[in-house]
Amino acid sequence: MEEIISKLKKLVSTSDKIVAFTGAGFSAESGISTFRGAGGLWSKYDPSIYADINYFIKDPSYYWSFIRDERYPTLKKAKPNDGHYALVELERYGKLYRVITQNIDGFHQIAGSSDVIELHGNSRNVNCMNCEKNYNMDDVFKKLEKDIPPRCSCGGVLKPATVLFGEPLPQYALEMAKLASKNCDMFLVLGSSLVVYPAASLPRIAKKNGAKLVIINIDPTPLDHIADIVINDSASKVLTAVINGGLNE
Ligand code: APR
Repeated sequence: MEEIISKLKKLVSTSDKIVAFTGAGFSAESGISTFRGAGGLWSKYDPSIYADINYFIKDPSYYWSFIRDERYPTLKKAKPNDGHYALVELERYGKLYRVITQNIDGFHQIAGSSDVIELHGNSRNVNCMNCEKNYNMDDVFKKLEKDIPPRCSCGGVLKPATVLFGEPLPQYALEMAKLASKNCDMFLVLGSSLVVYPAASLPRIAKKNGAKLVIINIDPTPLDHIADIVINDSASKVLTAVINGGLNE
C-alpha cells in the first residue's frame, strides 16, 4: 500500500490540472449509503420505481417517500468527511482544476471546494414541475408527514432538483464537465462504480486526451483496464494519505 500511495503522491505532485470525479462512495464515510456495492440502496429499492422520471410522473409518492424515509433524514445528520477536506487542501496547493460530482449532497461546497460541477443536481433544492418555482428542501420536508407528494402554491407537483433515470443531465454542467475532462492532466475517480452514463464517459474523454487516469474505489470498475493507477480502498483514506506530509510543488 505504501508503495502505491507514494506512486500516487508523485503523480499528484507533477500534475497541475487535476479533475476530481466523485461518486456515492466518496460520501459513504459521511454515513450516506451508496447505490451499488455492499449495502447499496438499489438492492433495497427498485430504481425503476424509486428513481425514474416516468414512474415519478405516474406516481410521485414513491420517490417522495424514499426522500422522506431514507434519503433526507440521513443527509440531515451527515457532514463532509476527511476526503472532502482533502480535496479542499488539494485546491490550496493549486493542483485542483475542477471537482465534478455525481453526488447530490452538496458536501464539496460545504467543505469549501470552490469550483464544483454537479452533474446530477442537488437534493437540498426543490422545484415546481409546473411553474418552476424553487423551494428549500428543509421547508418542503416539514410538510412531507401529511403531504405526499408536496405541492407548489400553484398546485403543481414539487420535485427535488436532482436528475432521475430517464432525465437529461443539466446541459451546462455536462458541457463544463466534458471540457474539464478534455483539459485536465489527471482524472481522479473517487468512489464511483462508473456504470452510469453519461457521467461514466468522462474518464474515457480524459484518458483519450492524454490525462493520467487514477481510480480509487472499493470495488473494481469497468474502466480499471484503461487506468494508470487503480486502488481498491477507501477514497478518503487514500486521498488523506497522499496529502499528509505535503506535496512537492
Ligand atoms: N471509498 C471508495 N469507494 C467506495 C467507498 C469508499 N469509502 N465506499 C463504497 N465505495 C464504492 C463502491 O465499491 C461502489 O463501487 O463506491 C461505489 C459507489 O457506486 P455507486 O453506488 O454506483 O455510486 P455512483 O457511481 O456515484 O452512482 C452513479 O447512480 O443511481 C445513481 O444517480 C445515482 O449518481 C448516482 C449514479
